[in-house]
Amino acid sequence: MGEIEYFGGLPEVGIVPRAPHAGPLVQHVYEQEHGRGGFSGKVTHTYHLYPPTNWLPGETKGLEGWVPRWESPLRPLGGVHHALGVMTPDGPGDVYRGMARLVANATAAMNVTAPRASMDYFFEHHSATMVFFVHQGSGTLETTFGPIAYQKGDFLIVPQGVTHRFDLAPGPHYYWMYESFAGDPEKSEAPTTGRFVTHSQSDYRYPRSLQTVNETGRFEIVSKVEGLYTRRLHPTHPFDVIGWRGDYLPYKFAVEDVRPLVADRSHVPPSGHTIFRLPGCYLCVFTVRSVEKEGMWLPFFHKNLDYCETIGFHCGEFFSSGGTSAAGLVTVHPVGLPHGPKPAALKAFRDGRRPEVHHEVAIMADFQNPVRISEFALGLSRPDYMQSWSAYTTDPGFSYHPTRLDEVRAIADRLAGARDTLRPPE
Ligand SMILES: [Fe+2]
Repeated sequence: MGEIEYFGGLPEVGIVPRAPHAGPLVQHVYEQEHGRGGFSGKVTHTYHLYPPTNWLPGETKGLEGWVPRWESPLRPLGGVHHALGVMTPDGPGDVYRGMARLVANATAAMNVTAPRASMDYFFEHHSATMVFFVHQGSGTLETTFGPIAYQKGDFLIVPQGVTHRFDLAPGPHYYWMYESFAGDPEKSEAPTTGRFVTHSQSDYRYPRSLQTVNETGRFEIVSKVEGLYTRRLHPTHPFDVIGWRGDYLPYKFAVEDVRPLVADRSHVPPSGHTIFRLPGCYLCVFTVRSVEKEGMWLPFFHKNLDYCETIGFHCGEFFSSGGTSAAGLVTVHPVGLPHGPKPAALKAFRDGRRPEVHHEVAIMADFQNPVRISEFALGLSRPDYMQSWSAYTTDPGFSYHPTRLDEVRAIADRLAGARDTLRPPE
């Protein structure tokens, strides 16, 4: 029998002691715990060449007004739907200097950034785990745990407190970023669909190529807690990690790996497309999928009575938009206000113009009420968006007619015995 190999119960990379805080190696390196839940939740230990507290004491300073758009004042939101146009980068901003808030509730927020420069500092978000969606661009997310190469269509999950920076490849960049203030995003699973619909944890890509840097210099780390930004300076490179072990890690997840739930004889509601749950928010992906064969293949009109819905349009023409969606656009549909298919989409449904496939990718993030919208977002709001539904009052197919009630009664009589085509035999 050859050598027998084993794997441990926690992911690990590089040089680590036999167990956290144990064994003689801990006398020679510096162990640092990245821990959630007050020493009782998810945790990863990193092993450093130098103490992580080796900052230069005289160099720590607050950064007043560091990213004004990220702190854009929030206003009450309701009664009117918004479509937010694509933001224009403001100055030569990197991912964080160009960050702008769109909407927020107490536990989650949606932001947007259109970076044009790589970061020459490191960043730590001390009060949120971040979920990026890369609408446009590619590059490398460098982290304590190793680099993650990313491209258009990737989600990047950057856990709270993880030191990192974005190195951008040439070309335009546009990212939506979701902050979770009260817990990490969890993979959405339902007992009825199991662990592998609509994606598998095996689709997540964690860093494995640790690139330890033993370098001296002046290394700037900016941290954020709410609107408080602080800079500290270290004399050694923060990626001086020789190994790590644990399950609190950054990772990426390609939208291509979402294998959507479809139904032949009914309409899958948005909740069937949920990929992540976070406190006060859920993230859904509408992606390329076959169209329902019977029943509704469009969304039903709905009032979401507890959540404000946002949709970021990534590519294709969104199935319910009736030609009003555009890449990069974000719609904001506040709590309680009815919405649903735009008139052109509903007309196609009623005329039986059913496509075989929805060619689209869109990211929906719904935020539990109360939700507020930023002044920055209001500046992007298109004044004509409420008119997207105006054909419901002008098109004779949808608007008032004195014989309408009689017509519907007659149709209902005619269809009283109607049954699905795809059904068990008699
Ligand atoms: Fe909706």
